[in-house]
Parts: sequence; C-alpha cells; structure tokens
Amino acid sequence: MHALKCLAGNEVGNAIRGGIRRRLSYVMGIETSCDDTGIAIVDTNGRVRANVLESQQEFHTRYGGIIPPRAQDLHRARIETAYQRCLKEAHLAPEELAAIAVTTRPGLPLSLVVGLRFARHLARRLQKPLLPVHHMEAHALQARMEHPEEIPFPFLCLLVSGGHCQLAVVHGPGRLTLLGQTLDDAPGEAFDKIGRRLRLHVLPEYRLWNGGRAIEHAAQLANDPLAYEFPLPLSQQRNCNFSFAGIKNNSFRAIRTRERAERTPPDGVISNYGDFCAGLLRGVSRHLMHRTQRAIEYCLLPQVRLFGDAPPTLVVSGGVANNDTIYANIAHLADQYGCRSYRPSKRYCSDNGVMIAWHGVEQLLQDREGSLRFDYDQIDIQGTAGFAESHEEAVTAAAIKCKWIQPLG
Ligand code: KG4
Ligand code: ZN
Repeated sequence: MHALKCLAGNEVGNAIRGGIRRRLSYVMGIETSCDDTGIAIVDTNGRVRANVLESQQEFHTRYGGIIPPRAQDLHRARIETAYQRCLKEAHLAPEELAAIAVTTRPGLPLSLVVGLRFARHLARRLQKPLLPVHHMEAHALQARMEHPEEIPFPFLCLLVSGGHCQLAVVHGPGRLTLLGQTLDDAPGEAFDKIGRRLRLHVLPEYRLWNGGRAIEHAAQLANDPLAYEFPLPLSQQRNCNFSFAGIKNNSFRAIRTRERAERTPPDGVISNYGDFCAGLLRGVSRHLMHRTQRAIEYCLLPQVRLFGDAPPTLVVSGGVANNDTIYANIAHLADQYGCRSYRPSKRYCSDNGVMIAWHGVEQLLQDREGSLRFDYDQIDIQGTAGFAESHEEAVTAAAIKCKWIQPLG
C-alpha cells in the first residue's frame, strides 16, 4: 500500500503540502475542454517540463465548426499518446508527479468528460491528489507563471476567448470576482463566425487558421483601415458587460453589401477584406477598451478601493489575447491609468495543458482548504461555471461615466 494511504484525509494533505514546500514538485495538467488535447508538466517554480498539444483545428475547419461527438472521439483517440509523449518529454516517471490537475469546467461536456475520466484513472492508479481546474481561472492565472513577482494578487483580468468574455478581479485560485461579462457572443466566437462568412479559409494561407488569427493577419493588408466603421455596443449601459452580436450582424451585412456590389463568386472573398478586418479589429478593440476602462475606474472608486491606493495590474488572457492590435490597445489604456499590463506568452494564451498544470501548482501553493482531493468519484464536470463572487450589480449601480481613451492608430 502506498505510504499516503496510511494517513487520514487531513494528514495526507499536510504531508503532501509540506513536501511540496520543501522541494521541487511536478504537477501534470490535462486540458480537454474544447477541441485541443493538452497535457503538460510544470514544476512548482513555474518551469515547463513538457508541453504536448494536439489540435483538432484541421478536422473541425473542414466542417465549419466544432462537432462535439467528433471532438470527443478525437480526444479519446489521442489522450493516451499525448500522456506518454508528455512523460517522455519531461524525463519523468508518473510516480514522480505530485498531483494531477484537470479541467472540469466550463467547456463542452463531451470533451471535458474524456479528460476527467483519464485524470481520475491516473490519480487513482498512482494514488495522487486530483485537482479540479476552472478553465477560465487557468487562463487568468497563466501570466503569473511567467511573471510571478510582477503580478501579485489581487489583479484585474480581461478574459477574451472563443467561449467567454469576462472582466474579473483575481484574488487567487477559486477566488475571482466577476465585474462584467458578455451578454451574447464571445469575441473569439465572433471572429470565427465572421472569418467564416468572409470566407477567409478559401485563401490558402488561412486554410487551417482560426478566424481570429486570420483576421489579425488580413488586417495588416489594409489599404484604407478606416473604410469600415462599426457601432459601439452597449454605449448606453454604464456597466462592464460586453456584446458582440451587433458587431457580428453588422459584419455580415457589410460583407453581403460588398459582395453584391462586386458580384463576388460564391467561393470568393471581397476585394478589400484587409480594410474590413482592420475596421473590425478597431471596433472590437474600442469596445473592449471601454468596458475595461470602466472596470479600472470601478476598482479605483473610493468606496471600493479594490487595490488600495495603487492602480491595478491588468492581465489580458485567453485565445484572443494573442491579438497584437487588441493587446496593444488594452496596454495603451492601462498606461493612461498608470497600470502595468501583461499577457501570457503567445504559446500559452490559447488553450493548453500548461495553464491547467500551473493552476494546479497555484492551488497547491495556496494551501487551499480541500484542494487536495482523493475523493475522485465526487469530482465531476460542469458545462457552465461562474466565479466565486460577483460585483456586477455594484458596477451597474455605480453607473460610472468615463472620459473615453481612444484606440491607437
Ligand atoms: O482560449 P481559446 O484557445 O479557447 C477557448 O477557451 O475558447 O480561444 C480560442 C479563440 C478562437 O475563437 C480564436 O478565433 C481566438 O481565440 N484567437 C484569436 C487569435 N488567435 C486565436 N483572436 C484574435 N486574434 C488572434 N490572433
Ligand atoms: Zn480557453
């Protein structure tokens, strides 16, 4: 019997936590919330020992979007090999892992369940603690792996991905306060749908790219970046919520108008797609800036003072944080308030196993009550999941009027 098994619940936790503090420990992170199978090993100093990522992008782009049962099949087919590759890359034996972290929420249930079952089986076999991870929290904490000193808790975070758009104050793992979120689409989702409608995937260079990446690249080809203008969403709502449905519908309309005027063939792309993409990025940046600006001002209100007298540190994370135009605009906004801004390295902005492993490390180091779980069967997946606390009502009640900072360029 494994030595840990001889100890009672709390003692096991204390023994492991004590060990983790004394020496370098390794946490494996398993991510299968959507269409990427990610498995990685990170040590308690934040050094990445292995990072294996199996993308399903090529498969799903053929069908114009993710088909959940197919995503599940692909996760199932690839997870064992990804695990073996990860251990090999790290030069570690499974027994050397201190814990297994796995995304349990939010995400596509059919995808999440593959990762959880695999992680549960592994944890039970190795008699290691299983650390359930909230996917969006993992995005939020990732930048701390690379900048631990510069990003102390609490910090302000703008989360922009394919499924979410949220502003939150991050106090630690499991301790996020929501300030605002999207009322409809997420920005990455809007980019993917608009990119598809624009038919960027028929251009060979973009064939295997996601919509956001293709739009960012195409925008650099603009001759007249101001040719397209987009309405500012929620301009009358003095809160930190987002909306991208209007920008998406406007895009569809503008593309259709141009296609008719140019008689674009059914498998063709409008001639000034670069101008369109530049305008779209500017419109999305402006909206993200406005809502983030109000969040900064909310945090600084004398009755709130979420960060004392200091300006908050701002982190931008999630797949859309890959976008240099969007990040530069948010960093520019942060500058105006004396806030330092960060984003994870590009390879860690999008979904990956490293961020899940790092969230596991943060859980271990934070000594969170109940973070070391051996009740494997009690841990389950959740398709949707919010944060611990919400200040959304307080933000709305504060009805802050801002003097808007304009996007760059
Ligand atoms: O965080 P992520 O990998 O998965 C989710 O949790 O959703 O984000 C994926 C999203 C996609 O919708 C994709 O279009 C977007 O991130 N994305 C980008 C860029 N790269 C990926 N959006 C804008 N610019 C990019 N360079
Ligand atoms: Zn994500």
